[in-house]
Amino acid sequence: MSASLVTVAYIGAIILFILSLGGLSNPESSRRGNLYGMIGMALAVLATVFGPRVTLAGIPWIVAAMVIGGSVGLYAAKVVKMTQMPELVALMHSLVGLAAMLVGFASYIDTSVVYTGVEKTIHEVEIYIGILIGAVTFSGSVIAFGKLSGKIGGKPMLLPGRHWLNLAGLLVVLWFGREFINAGSIDAGMLPLIVMTVIALLFGIHMVMAIGGADMPVVVSMLNSYSGWAAAATGFMLSNDLLIVVGALVGSSGAILSYIMCRAMNRNFISVIAGGFGTGGGTVAKKKHGEPEGEVTPISAQETAELLKDAKSVIIVPGYGMAVAQAQHTVFEITKLLREKGVNIRFGIHPVAGRMPGHMNVLLAEAKVPYDIVMEMDELNDDFPATDVAMVIGANDIVNPAAEDDPTSPIAGMPVLQVWKAKTSIVMKRSMASGYAGVDNPLFYKDNNRMLFGDAKKMLHEVLVALKA
Ligand code: TAP
Repeated sequence: MSASLVTVAYIGAIILFILSLGGLSNPESSRRGNLYGMIGMALAVLATVFGPRVTLAGIPWIVAAMVIGGSVGLYAAKVVKMTQMPELVALMHSLVGLAAMLVGFASYIDTSVVYTGVEKTIHEVEIYIGILIGAVTFSGSVIAFGKLSGKIGGKPMLLPGRHWLNLAGLLVVLWFGREFINAGSIDAGMLPLIVMTVIALLFGIHMVMAIGGADMPVVVSMLNSYSGWAAAATGFMLSNDLLIVVGALVGSSGAILSYIMCRAMNRNFISVIAGGFGTGGGTVAKKKHGEPEGEVTPISAQETAELLKDAKSVIIVPGYGMAVAQAQHTVFEITKLLREKGVNIRFGIHPVAGRMPGHMNVLLAEAKVPYDIVMEMDELNDDFPATDVAMVIGANDIVNPAAEDDPTSPIAGMPVLQVWKAKTSIVMKRSMASGYAGVDNPLFYKDNNRMLFGDAKKMLHEVLVALKA
């Protein structure tokens, strides 16, 4: 394949990737968006493999790598549970970082292309920055994987003087950068390059270890952004325009997503990076002075069904627990039944409900819930006062009124779905355990709130049976 044909194929792939990103912005067009992305990637890989820069002798290596990588990917995609998706994504990001690091070292020791003068300096700067971003992305993503999968605790690890440590690391990296560029030979440049890599790896670990559980969603999308910049840096090192453009697309879309998520959690991006927020989650929150104390009012599945039957309007707020229980299909059965009875029933989706962006939308789409009754938080938050029943299914932090009322709460300022303003709210969960942020929820003790204790799928099934009776 000639170089100009490869360029045409690359432009085609870039257009497909942009269409893919556009498609993914809406549930209705997301399948098409995915398809565009897959075709674009196939085109990009084929054009690269059959392009002028790959010799015939290299093809068996590439095929072997693709078979191994493809099989691992296929296996992982098949066995991964929906709730494990964020950790899988984090692991994937780590591979992009690792690839950028390895490409950096390979292109430094590669003597087949000789650079001189300014070109040499530019190439070395590309290598230095590429390995730096790659190493931070790699080690940061591995730690994010560990935290999301529970292998490492969610509590932020805060070293004394950590900001100074980071600053010192940055200065050392800059100093060794100068040493690297001024080194006369590959051998002399290797030491500064390795020292910088080690510091960058430690920085990645330190950065993510300092970030608490509740901020992890932002971290995952931030690492997504980093992996894009790492890919773009690889593109510069290999002089591959497609990789530069695609890396920049991933890098900037990840940055925009991080910004949107920060806003959804009312967190400042810098303070997320600075770390120290949130706990491991999943424990019964300790009551501090001034926190809600009181009795909760339990309700049975039968009584829940009665309330739903009598309601004119219902808002369902799903959360992480719905994903754990895989209750989305039963939720939809109930929805269908109530809609047939003329109840106005809608879903309220918080931007960080669950454990990954769009988590709830994916589950509801899988259960075939019509898109037009799935609303974003801002679209229906004002409707709660006119709602008869707000049914919270396995959600906790995203419906916590302390975010609005208690300035001392760790989640103060996070926008939440105001379910307590409905005539009756019903919270479906197994116990009084806290959610991801590890804080108590005053909603549970409100007079108009009822607790339906049990596994979401089991309880919803009982509600469904009672509704049908
Ligand atoms: P959480 O606040 O984590 O609450 C989920 C609740 O579901 C838990 O309190 C748990 O209570 C209940 N639950 C678990 N398994 C259940 C089951 N089988 N049946 C019924 N209930 C079950 O979830 P949320 O309200 O969706 O909020 C999301 C939180 O995760 C936020 O703090 C957010 O910042 C964070 N986060 C979000 C993301 C993204 S991007 N969405 C990523 C990482 C973290 P029991 O144990 O008592 O049942």
